[in-house]
Amino acid sequence: MAKILVTGGCGYIGSHTLVDLIENGYDVISVDNNKRSNPLILDGVEKLTNKKIKNYRLIFAITMTRSPFSRKTKTSRELYILLLTNQ
Ligand SMILES: NC(=O)c1ccc[n+]([C@@H]2O[C@H](COP(=O)([O-])OP(=O)(O)OC[C@H]3O[C@@H](n4cnc5c(N)ncnc54)[C@H](O)[C@@H]3O)[C@@H](O)[C@H]2O)c1
Repeated sequence: MAKILVTGGCGYIGSHTLVDLIENGYDVISVDNNKRSNPLILDGVEKLTNKKIKNYRLIFAITMTRSPFSRKTKTSRELYILLLTNQ
């Protein structure tokens, strides 16, 4: 079964999404910087699902601009997903 990365997994929608995905047989990983949530919410998810959830305490960001790391000269807009550390 596919592994799904859930952004904001410690938040209201994210934690419910984790439970729903696990109940439907998916493996999940959470990315949440816990700026607006408590990581202990995942204890509740684990109690409901009997699955240990790994949360990466990172900042999730999406940008449509060109990557500063890209050396390509393409002019089309590209989508980048960035995972940044909190500090
Ligand atoms: N009991 C309830 O009915 C209840 C409880 C909570 C929230 N709500 C409502 O539900 C709605 C949606 O809640 P939600 O789940 O979208 O919000 P949320 O704040 O609960 O969850 C968002 C999560 O994303 C994380 N986050 C935000 N930006 C991030 C980033 N850039 N990188 C990493 N992590 C990031 C936050 O730390 C948080 O855990 C809101 O309108 C809220 O008022 C209802």
